[in-house]
This record gives sequence, structure tokens and C-alpha cells, in this order.
Amino acid sequence: MRAAGYNSDVFEGKPVIGICNSWSELNNCNMNLRDVAEAVKRGVWAAGGFPLEFPTISLGETYIRPTTMLFRNLMAMDVEEMIRANPLDGVVLLCGCDKTTPAQLMGAASADIPSIMISSGPMLAGNWRGQRISSGTDGRKLFDQYRSGKIGDEELNEIEGCISRTLGHCTVMGTASTMTSLAEAMGMMLTGCASIPAPDSRRLQISETTGRRIVEMVHEDLKPSRIITRESLENAVITCMALGGSTNAVVHLIAIAGRLGIKLTLADFDRLSRSTPYLTNVKPSGEYLMEDFFHSGGLPALMKEILPLLHRDCLTVTGKSISENLEKAQCYNAEVIRPLSSPLHHEGGLAILHGNLCPNGAVIKPTAASPELLQHRGKAYVFENHEQMEQQVDLDYLPIDRNTVLVMKNGGPKGAPGFPEWGWLPMPKMLLKQGVKDIVRISDARMSGTSFGTVVLHVAPESAIGGPLGIVQTGDEVVLDVAARTLNVTLSPDEIAKRSAQFVTPKPHYDRGYGKLFLEHVTQADEGCDFDFLRAVEPNS
Ligand code: FES
Repeated sequence: MRAAGYNSDVFEGKPVIGICNSWSELNNCNMNLRDVAEAVKRGVWAAGGFPLEFPTISLGETYIRPTTMLFRNLMAMDVEEMIRANPLDGVVLLCGCDKTTPAQLMGAASADIPSIMISSGPMLAGNWRGQRISSGTDGRKLFDQYRSGKIGDEELNEIEGCISRTLGHCTVMGTASTMTSLAEAMGMMLTGCASIPAPDSRRLQISETTGRRIVEMVHEDLKPSRIITRESLENAVITCMALGGSTNAVVHLIAIAGRLGIKLTLADFDRLSRSTPYLTNVKPSGEYLMEDFFHSGGLPALMKEILPLLHRDCLTVTGKSISENLEKAQCYNAEVIRPLSSPLHHEGGLAILHGNLCPNGAVIKPTAASPELLQHRGKAYVFENHEQMEQQVDLDYLPIDRNTVLVMKNGGPKGAPGFPEWGWLPMPKMLLKQGVKDIVRISDARMSGTSFGTVVLHVAPESAIGGPLGIVQTGDEVVLDVAARTLNVTLSPDEIAKRSAQFVTPKPHYDRGYGKLFLEHVTQADEGCDFDFLRAVEPNS
């Protein structure tokens, strides 16, 4: 510090606050975090702390290939080890794009020093020729129109500029908005923080407050292990259901829980989904955008609405309970945040399926699906892998129709590798031309939280390790029944056993480096896809 020009009395005796910044020019969603960091520092100084910013890996969805999910655990390790290795008393976690939030929470939970999170915030709503448009969800719909020739290159270029008009993360209830909201719901972020748009000056104001608060948290020894408990994680799950949040939250919350030895399971998600109404009218499940959600009262208004369902006494980074934090929360637009008495759907946004195709579970987002397809029986058309799907999906003819069930194998943690967002299989061009907008699609991959459709994801165990999805052949009959929470192929147990016996483990994608470590230690989707050696050794509950 002396080498950097600080006099010793500037830092001696003060809590040292690390500012763990995932800013990167390779991640537009997090590119305002330098400004956020400066505001956090002002708060730390003002409260008598000594702020020191440090970089970590940043994971931006738009550029990283094959998938950011391959690197979530690497970022979590970076965060954990840098917190642990440096002489820090507390840490502020600066997140934004999808994986940066769970990676930081996982790392901070393992390091377990006083920690508080602040996000980049959602970007502003887009506007194209009088039409309000969103990143992700509308982008995909408009791209389908481009694929089917309804709009051209010039319009597509114009749309890009209109959608991406500010920094910040995606402006729908995709994975980024879901995970930052759930960080707040579980108590790791100041009340109201997650919903403030990225360019809004109130984001910098709450950054300052976050900086002040972490200094107090150090004095209170308020660590993640006191905040992230089974009850607070259940609050996050309940909030996710009321938000119509991303399917990716299932994997990330299970992984965060695992860092503290808490066994959160798919059964917990299904149980809490059945008892939580879906209230948030934001895309991809609803109609509005994150900016509207913020102006309607944001996450505090939503959480106040579902307060009767939450564990109200959970401690948060404010040093107060959830119910104390929400005392002043108000809803200003009941069209965007519905009252508990008049939900958009009587159950939550996610459902967990089981059956002979997914013995260890699969996930579907019924609120973003076509209601008429939630009970469906159809013949499978199978893609053996993503490459084959890409080669075929735009062919002028495929032997499929609106009743077909598209199946894609080898999209899971080991098979893809890295568990990419390939699960939103594009609608085949020949069906788009016929005006068909949705069919049932099944894979062991994930999908972007901004996506929509009748899409079954996270099939476990995955096909690449011998899961039953791998035995499905074109022409087999598949039965989806979301109300009954089942997904089956109508094959006899003998036929399943016969086909399974022929399974040959594919050659691993990596034989060295981080990829090898990933393949050897990643757990399956239903276990959170954390590395087996990073989970807490001693269970807490
Ligand atoms: Fe970063 Fe959507 S691409 S949040």
C-alpha cells in the first residue's frame, strides 16, 4: 500500500474491504461495474473502511464458447480463493450477467467472510419502430422471423441497435434478473437493489450504501453462513416461483446450498412451486420488462405480496429480517405485480418431472410454455447431438409435424460439454413457415432464462453417461404430462434394458487442463453441477 502511495494512517486499523469486480470489456452486461465499484468505494471510505478493488474472471453470455456454464465453477474457485488468500475483512461482490451471480455467491459462501452483493442492473427497455422490445425474448422471436424470411438484414441490424441501447444485463426475467433477484431474496443484497436499471443514478446511490453497509457488517461479523440458510434458500425458491424465474435458478441454487452443506433438492422446488402462485407479469412468461417491474415497486413489492409464504425472520445483509426490510414496500402497478389474490397462475413458474426418461428429474417452465402442449403424446424425432440438430433444423423438409416431440441428446454437463443453453431447440424452419410456433422439445441441456416454449430441460442423468434419454430413437412415442409431473417413453422395461446395454461411453472432450478437471468432477444437473470436491464436507441440514 505504501508502494501505491498510501500513508499508513489511511488504512491502519480500518476494516479492509475487497471489491470483487467482474467488470470486463468482454462482458457488456457487467461493463458499468467500474462506476459501481467507485460508488461502493465512496461508501466504504465514508464508513471508515479501506476499499481495495480486485478483478476476477468475468463470464459474459454473448461471447464465451462453448458455454459460460463450463466456467461457472472456475469463477467460483477464483472468487473463493482470492477472498481467502488476501487479507480481507469483508467483500463486496459485483455481479451482473447470468453466471457471475451464482459463481460469486458460491465462492463467497465457501470463503465465509462478511459479504454483500451488488449487481450491474437490467438494461433499459428497447424500442423498435414503436414496438417495445427486449433482449433475449423478443430478440429470439424476431430472429425466427428473420429465419423464415419475414424480416431482412437491414431490419435485423436496426433491431440489434434498438435492443442493446444501454449497458446492463438482459431486461427480462432471464437468468441474470432471476439470480440477482434471488440474491436479494436470500438476503445477500440490499433491499430493492436487484431491480434498479443499470443507467439509473439510484444504482450508484445504492452502491454507496452497499459500501457503507459492508463496513458495518464486518463489525457485526455478519457472514454468509448466517444469512444463507435452508429457510433463506427456500425464500429464494418461493420468490423464483412467484417471479416466473429462470430454469437455471434450479441448478444454481442447489449449487449455492451445497457450498454450505444444505441439501436443497428438486423435490423442494416442486413442492414450493405447487404452493406459490406466479405473480410477475414480466417476459418471457409475462408481458412487461424489468424496467416496468422496477417502476411497479420491484422485488420488494413482489416479496411483500408473497410475505405470507416466506420465512419472514430470515436475517439479511441489512442486519434486519426480511419482514423488517419490506415494511415500506408498495406495489404501484398491479398489472405488472399481481396481488396474491389474483395471480397470473395459481402455481409457480417451474415444474419438476420424473419418469422413465428422466429418473433423476427434469425441469420445465409451464408459464412460458403453450398450455395445449403441457399434456402431450407424440412421436420423437431425435437429434443425436447439437451439431446434427443445426444441420437439420433449417432443412426444407423433415419427417415431422406439429405433434412431433423433438429430442436432442448429448447436451448435458459432460456430453456437450459444459451444460450449454442448447435446450431451446430452434423451431424447425418448415414448421415456422406453416405458422407453427411451438412444439414439445426435450434435451439434457439448459436453456437461456430469456427463452420460452414447451421445452423440457436438465434431463438427468444425462445421455452421455448412460441416461435413458440416450436410448430414444426417432419414431418412439413420448408422453409429457406436466400436471402429473411425468415424462415417459412408451417402451417396455425389457426394450429399455436391451437398448441401455448397448451404451458405449463417448470419448471425453478434454484430456488436459481445466476441461479435464471439469469432466472428472462435475456433478449432474439435479445436484447443481458443482464440482464434487467444492461442496461442503459436513452437511448443515
Ligand atoms: Fe448477460 Fe443476458 S447476456 S444477462
